[in-house]
Amino acid sequence: MRKPVIAGNWKMYKTRVQTQAFFDAFKPLVAGVHHCGIVVAPPFTSIEAAIEAARGSAISVAAQNMHWEKEGAFTGEVSGAMLVELGCEGVIIGHSERRQYFCETDESVNRKTRAAIALELRPIVCMGETLGEREAGRTQAVLQRQFDGAMAALTVDQFSRILIAYEPVWAIGTGRTATPEIAAESHRYIRELAAARFGPERASAVPILYGGSVKPDNIRGLMAQEEIDGALVGGASLDARSFAAIVNYQG
Ligand code: PGA
Repeated sequence: MRKPVIAGNWKMYKTRVQTQAFFDAFKPLVAGVHHCGIVVAPPFTSIEAAIEAARGSAISVAAQNMHWEKEGAFTGEVSGAMLVELGCEGVIIGHSERRQYFCETDESVNRKTRAAIALELRPIVCMGETLGEREAGRTQAVLQRQFDGAMAALTVDQFSRILIAYEPVWAIGTGRTATPEIAAESHRYIRELAAARFGPERASAVPILYGGSVKPDNIRGLMAQEEIDGALVGGASLDARSFAAIVNYQG
């Protein structure tokens, strides 16, 4: 019922030239794929190159962040409208690295999410607990705070435009993936939060991706969980073969 999505978050990797080389290798490896949506999120400066290189394929391109205003005196920022003009179809919002290192808050996540939806950019809204929060038994409280913050003032229709990524911070870039069961437990909880706020029908339709050390050798186990609708992949999305192996998780 929910079509899976495999998304690559390149973080601060890949120049334009490297982006072109990635697509040259990647496109043929995923040419016949229909079972899932494929998204690549390059750095701002490589977005245009990615969109050109992805032309004629089913791969869509997303940004990793945006500002909520259309334009203004915000040195160093990029607006959603600028991304739309490039041909971007989505945007990652509230990644834990932005929360940890760049002062992203639940409130800014909410502003960006609403601005993205207004521009018909599909937001991938990230949430997840740190190791300390998990060990203190606060995982659900943190997810609830992040969910309520991100979704504040969203209408049911606006909510139906988003994707959620559950990314436990302790699993990102550490090689320590959440077990499929641990991930599914949090996904289920996020879906309960969604049902309480937006109703069971919309909650059962929202795709919830898992992120945190997803690799070709653990994707199958994760995707076998009914609650897991895809993956947000960092490190393993940088290599065309490994990202294609993740996209082709079915066999
Ligand atoms: P990772 O990153 O796959 O390298 O752990 C995931 C992410 O940060 O989205």
